[in-house]
This record gives sequence, C-alpha cells and structure tokens, in this order.
Amino acid sequence: MEIIRTVAELRDRLAREPNVGCVPTMGNIHDGHLSLVRLGLTHSPFVVTTIFVNRLQFGQGEDFESYPRTFEDDCAKLEAAGCALVFHPDEREMYPEPQVFSVDPPPVANKLEGRFRPGHFRGMATVVLKLFNIVQPKSAVFGKKDYQQIHIVRHMVDQLALPVRIVAAETYRADDGLALSSRNRYLSPTERAEAARLHEALQQVRVAVEGGDRNFEALEFAADALLARHGWHVDYVVVRSRRTLTQPGPDERDLVVLGAAKLGKTRLIDNLEITAPA
Ligand code: PAF
Repeated sequence: MEIIRTVAELRDRLAREPNVGCVPTMGNIHDGHLSLVRLGLTHSPFVVTTIFVNRLQFGQGEDFESYPRTFEDDCAKLEAAGCALVFHPDEREMYPEPQVFSVDPPPVANKLEGRFRPGHFRGMATVVLKLFNIVQPKSAVFGKKDYQQIHIVRHMVDQLALPVRIVAAETYRADDGLALSSRNRYLSPTERAEAARLHEALQQVRVAVEGGDRNFEALEFAADALLARHGWHVDYVVVRSRRTLTQPGPDERDLVVLGAAKLGKTRLIDNLEITAPA
C-alpha cells in the first residue's frame, strides 16, 4: 500500500488511475472504516483512504487536540482490507494559508448535530470538497452512522454537480448494537457496558413506528426518558423524514430516527432508518 503526503505527488500518482474510489476518514481506523474500504472496492478498483483530522469541523472545547491519532496501526489495517493508497497530508499541506473560502451548507446544517456543533458541517463540507478536488474520485464512501453528514455531502455533490458517486455504507455495530466510532475509546468500561442503550432506545422507536404508531413526539419522549433514567444527557432523539431530515409529512413512510446523547464526557450519535407501514 502506498502512502502519500503531498497534493502534488498524489495528483501525479493518480493520473495513471482511471477509476479511483475515496474513503475520507480522520484516522483511528476501526472495523467500520474497513467496511467502507471493502464497499469502496466494489465500486472502484483503486481505493484511496484519506486520513486527516480536520480542524475546521471541530468547535471550541471539542476534542481536536485529543482526537486519537494512530497512523501506523491505521495503515496496517487499511492495507489488509485492500486499500491501495493512503493520503495523509499534514495541516500545512491541506491549509497552506488560512482557509477563507468555505462551503456554505443549507439550513439543514444548523439542525440536529448543527445545533449542538455550530459550524461543524461548514468545516466538514469544505474539507470534503477539497479532498474531492484533490483525489478526483469516481466514487466515495461514507458511513450512515453520520447520517446528516452523508445527507449534506449528497446535497453538495448534486448542487455543485461534482462528478463523484456517493455510496452510503450501513452502520457497523458491535455485538451489543453499539455503532463503532473512534470516540467509543473515550468510554470507561462501565460506560461501554451502558453505551448500547442508545441503539436500544432508537430500536424501541423503530419497532413502534413500524408497528403503526405515528405519535412521534411521545415516542421521542419515551426514548429520551429511558436514556435519562440510565444517566445519559440527551441532546435529541427525533424522527425525521429520510429525504429532507425535517419533520415528516403525514403520509411520509421513509423515516429515520436520530439520536445524540452524552454518557459521562463522551457524546455518541446513532440512527436507524424506518419504513413506516402504508
Ligand atoms: O466522517 C469523518 O470522519 C469526517 O467528517 C470526514 C468526512 C473525514 C471529513 O473530515
């Protein structure tokens, strides 16, 4: 597996590759990322994983400095999964001068995660657009765990007519249902044992809606209460339209329940797609 750290060298190398796939990551590679690489390989034979902890998408007081950086280990895992090349620029390479141009995402970026992480999606969309311009992939894979992220990336690709196919990968879960995330490593053993309850709470909403219950507010409240009873600080549990991530219309069937909550100091997010009965 090749490792390249500069834009010029990467462009030169990729000029020979007709069908490049891209898996953008911030590193600390786990089985979830590896599933993205494997899915990427079914769309493009040459997969480039980017590893870059993007300062622009972290807010004040968030974990930019402490975000786990495990590059050697990451490369070993990516190579075993069939990744062809890792692009690992440093900050000076990605942002040689302050990044004063940015992607201005639509209002949906200020809801849900955006409400609790102002500016996050602007920073995310800016780096993703920049990475797409550098790698020029034919396909790019994102995990559904970051549901709002993939929603915004798709919208950006459509509106800016970017020639890249966005592929959504199912969330990769531990045996107890916890969605894999680099931030799970912040959990203490006791918190880790509790962490799957977020999935359980969302699952409870999904089962009810699939059973015909459309009293979303009551279901959201019950999920919130379940988590709060077990010591979580809930930011939101909401049922939304899968298409718009806004309140579902009365006949809308393609839904998603999204949740974000803190366990101790660790903030976790998760979601489940729901198809409501006709
Ligand atoms: O999902 C992530 O890891 C990041 O938001 C991404 C897409 C790599 C952009 O920095």
